Amino acid sequence: MDSAIGVIDSGVGGLTVAHELMRQLPKEKLIYLGDTLRCPYGPRSKEEVKKFTWEMVEFLLKKKIKMLVVACNTATAFTLTELQEELPIPVIGVIQPGARAAIKSTENGYIGVIGTEGTINSNAYPESLKNIRADIHVNALACPMFVPMVERGIIAGKKAQQVVKEALQPLQEKNHMDTLILGCTHYPLLKNTIQEVIGSHVTVISSSEETAREISTILEFRNLLYRGNRFPNHQFYTTGDLTIFSRIAKEIFKTSISDFKTVSIEKAVIS
Ligand code: DGL
Repeated sequence: MDSAIGVIDSGVGGLTVAHELMRQLPKEKLIYLGDTLRCPYGPRSKEEVKKFTWEMVEFLLKKKIKMLVVACNTATAFTLTELQEELPIPVIGVIQPGARAAIKSTENGYIGVIGTEGTINSNAYPESLKNIRADIHVNALACPMFVPMVERGIIAGKKAQQVVKEALQPLQEKNHMDTLILGCTHYPLLKNTIQEVIGSHVTVISSSEETAREISTILEFRNLLYRGNRFPNHQFYTTGDLTIFSRIAKEIFKTSISDFKTVSIEKAVIS
């Protein structure tokens, strides 16, 4: 099918999922929307996250997407079920794929999860993990400093190291875990720093690979895959600063993306 896969996030974090999608499904076209202007979603109320998420979804629906990827853990935790119930297209979030990847990885059954306050307080990860394996031990920790830091483009160096080290201290005190889930799509940008701080004995999991695999399966199953031959023309939208967005995107994709556009959510909603 010719139409695009829609991908949403509160900012640049979902680009880590988009990148993996482009790798696994190179012929599929993506339309990405990051609500950078109103990022972070993590400290916001459930109602606010729902409202903003629906605004992004409305924007993408007008572009006739064939599937929606909620590449934001916070939005997944608060809106996935509702979106799946109400939209006529397949909708996938990032929490279940992340949980599954962690269960596959752990040997001792002790898993750590880091995410935004919204995601951690929602309890979505422990629930998802225990649904798959009831005897799993989960330590969950909110890291509210990480998203604003990543959105400013600070992903390595002394400052990032110091912030990560201080934030992860409580997890390291309970150091049974052999697996750590990056329960926020912004965190893979800090993966090297997180791995250095947490130690090489812990496997650090980001949900993007598993999510992309699941998307591929759903598209195949529903006969929605693009069957022709093309180099798709992806579209990337941000509601915020185009320069910073492009800079971080370049960091993720290791190449610059020419088709970047800025759109305001308000304009998107009423147009
Ligand atoms: N990438 C979003 C997530 O996965 C970040 C949330 C935020 O904006 O705080 O949760």
